[in-house]
Amino acid sequence: MSEALDGLREEHRRILEVFDRFEQRCASPNEPSPQYVNGLLDFIQIFIDANHHGKEERALFRATDAHPWLNSFAMLLTEQHEAGRGLARAVARARERGHSGLAELRSFVEYLREHIARENEAIFVTIEQALDESSGADLAARFAEIESEVIEHWKIAEPDEANRRIGELRRWDALLVRA
Ligand SMILES: [Fe+2]
Ligand SMILES: [Fe+2]
Repeated sequence: MSEALDGLREEHRRILEVFDRFEQRCASPNEPSPQYVNGLLDFIQIFIDANHHGKEERALFRATDAHPWLNSFAMLLTEQHEAGRGLARAVARARERGHSGLAELRSFVEYLREHIARENEAIFVTIEQALDESSGADLAARFAEIESEVIEHWKIAEPDEANRRIGELRRWDALLVRA
């Protein structure tokens, strides 16, 4: 079970790293460029929503179906993903109106940080204790399928990146540079 959940914890670290860099950029004298914001929105849509929340909603949370108490937790977290999607749409709307979208992005980042902390500190630990080894192996396989599907669908890997994990693709490099 740990191996599957460790992959999600690793993705949390990658997401929080991108958020840290974003907040540093916001605090620096030069406002983040529109290109940088476009890259961050891609990361939110592809890495966070399609890939990471995809793994949680389409695989991890489903594995809690036989455990009513855990399942209600999973439903709460799914609702939070939905609320996060609303906040991400607010960024896009602000930009359509000609604004930078930075204030809306900060709200999204703050909301998701809280959500990730809740997963790391509570539900992941509980799920780990409740599900057995074989469900862990099934989950790891399902995560790998979802990840390949996302990489393929969004065409985000360069030809020489065939064996890289999604978090290690060069596509996200610009988001990890210190301001
Ligand atoms: Fe989540
Ligand atoms: Fe998560």
